[in-house]
Amino acid sequence: MPRVSAAFYAVGVLCVLTGMFWGMHMAESQNMATMPAHAHLNLLGWVTMALYGTFYALEKDTLVPKLAWANFVVSTASVVIMIPTLAVFLSNGEDPKYIPILVAGEVLAVIGMAIFGISVFRELFRRRG
Ligand code: HEM
Repeated sequence: MPRVSAAFYAVGVLCVLTGMFWGMHMAESQNMATMPAHAHLNLLGWVTMALYGTFYALEKDTLVPKLAWANFVVSTASVVIMIPTLAVFLSNGEDPKYIPILVAGEVLAVIGMAIFGISVFRELFRRRG
């Protein structure tokens, strides 16, 4: 497995462990205020990261390491910025002062996916045989 795939899985497993404890805390306290942040931590931080890591593992002989690592850095930064900000935003009456930071995290998530898209289409159209 390429190191970049292992790195995606490492971030993913940290996110899902955090997300699981978070979910257990929500259930025990019956306070669902931060539920969208829990859901996005698990879906962006675990499911999406694992899909990125799986793709690059399948593409191990032809991947472009700089593209894959750029995808990793930008997507990890998006989760680190967006999820805690979303949690604070939801816990503080959706105070609009947090929106610019949230948007920065969202934009990074989109850029990370766009970089992934370049890798996907490069793989689709590369010469074979
Ligand atoms: C120990 C593991 C987990 C626990 C205890 C947990 C707990 C919870 C709880 C209590 C809710 C709120 C439910 C409600 O009031 O409607 C919730 C929502 C949600 N969780 Fe988790 N969760 C866990 C793992 C995960 C994982 C692994 C994912 C995704 C891969 C996930 C995705 C979601 C989503 C998408 C929602 C929102 C559902 C909706 O909008 O109705 N959760 N979770």
